Amino acid sequence: MQTVLNYLKENKQRQLDELVEFLRIPSVSADPKHAADVRKTAGFVASALTKAGADNVRIHDTKGHPIVYGEKIVDPKKPTVLVYGHYDVQPPDPLNLWTSGPFEPVIKKTDLHPDGAVFARGSCDDKGQVYMHIKAFEAMMATDSLPCNIKFLVEGEEEVGSSNLEDFCRANKDLLACSVILISDTSIIANNCPSLTVGLRGLSYLEVEVVGPNRDLHSGVYGGAVGNPVNILCEMIASLKDKKGKITIPGFYDDVVRLKPAERKDLNKAPFKIKEYTKDLGIKETRGEDGFTVIEQTSIRPTLDVNGIWGGYIGEGAKTVLPSKASAKISMRLVPNQQSDKITKLFTKHFEKIAPKSVKVTVKPHHGGEAAVTPTDTPEYAAAMKAMKTTFGKNPIPVRSGGSIPIVALFEKVLKVKTVLMGFGLDSDNIHSPNEHYGLFNYYKGIETIPYFFRYYADAKK
Ligand code: BES
Ligand code: MN
Ligand code: MN
Repeated sequence: MQTVLNYLKENKQRQLDELVEFLRIPSVSADPKHAADVRKTAGFVASALTKAGADNVRIHDTKGHPIVYGEKIVDPKKPTVLVYGHYDVQPPDPLNLWTSGPFEPVIKKTDLHPDGAVFARGSCDDKGQVYMHIKAFEAMMATDSLPCNIKFLVEGEEEVGSSNLEDFCRANKDLLACSVILISDTSIIANNCPSLTVGLRGLSYLEVEVVGPNRDLHSGVYGGAVGNPVNILCEMIASLKDKKGKITIPGFYDDVVRLKPAERKDLNKAPFKIKEYTKDLGIKETRGEDGFTVIEQTSIRPTLDVNGIWGGYIGEGAKTVLPSKASAKISMRLVPNQQSDKITKLFTKHFEKIAPKSVKVTVKPHHGGEAAVTPTDTPEYAAAMKAMKTTFGKNPIPVRSGGSIPIVALFEKVLKVKTVLMGFGLDSDNIHSPNEHYGLFNYYKGIETIPYFFRYYADAKK
């Protein structure tokens, strides 16, 4: 291990310089204007893999953005780790809230990152974490210490639902055959408190439209007699939760797995301070489902949230108008055993049912995905624990995350392989938000931990 560590130490500045170049390319998958940038980013990943020593590096075209593949097979009899990650990023807006350009990476110090953090869209989610793997791989190759086979699968559509990756997996089961999947696209509790993610929530995402009169109307001439779609949409959305924070859609909770008291107790052992939480977010108190802690509300319980809502006049000044339509984007985070398609159907049926006759409602499903739970009694989980213990000096705590990586459940279904979620970000790194950043401590700690994972995993499988 010492030679890898020496190699990493000698190449620190270059590891950062290259990441900065990677982050400069605006790989926004949701925005068709950036399609060429997304492709360029795929090229960057492919060439980084080749330079690091990967074979059979390919950029696979899809109906959407390309998928990058690369591998190093040291011995077909040895186990194979498939590293998955995504090089696409969320749109950077609102731009005016960034303190520096989202695609002009700069290093700044923060309270939680006294050694500095690189500020850029994708720095934490997930380009920075993907690049840790490429640099760890490079180090193992350069020091002749890669102890088992490795495959890389880096996609460009995670932030828009991974639908082409799903087809790619089904069509390339042999190419992707592996003994374990390793993903760094999640967070740790704190830099002095490592954790491993053992669960992710699922997702059902949809868009609703409420249409009233056939045109915008004068709100004085017609107001009072004609149902206002914006008011009606608000009433309908408000009715989706009761006073106790329970979702009112019939059947919504039917399949929800209820944890045993002991399991809930374990979950709540993770360090959490409500005062720090509310202070960090600038809120007076939290507001969630009665009877559950914040940790539970954000991990083992499903949610329903409006992600965006619009309709009527939103320009300067006032315009007295009774709008013809209103819309909203709504997401529901799901927990084990709930099925995304089923929940989408239940929502649609209910939403159509509660609409007053004065409006027409349409519900358009977007992407979805299933929740995942990763086992903790496997050689790969033990290897990840031991690797983190080695580099952080503390055993990682298992945590269930509230976020979603829908491909994890799919990997399990299609490739029949379990995943290790060994991410290194912090929840406060502003992913999907202005001023996303990734701590240099976290970046280097990741690069250092990954070779240990390979070492311990390969040893355990001998
Ligand atoms: N890396 C995140 C998911 C994540 C973040 C998991 C933090 C755990 C902790 C991923 O890129 C993501 O944003 N996923 C989307 C889902 C996707 C279908 C758009 C999400 O969770 O909103
Ligand atoms: Mn991600
Ligand atoms: Mn994301």
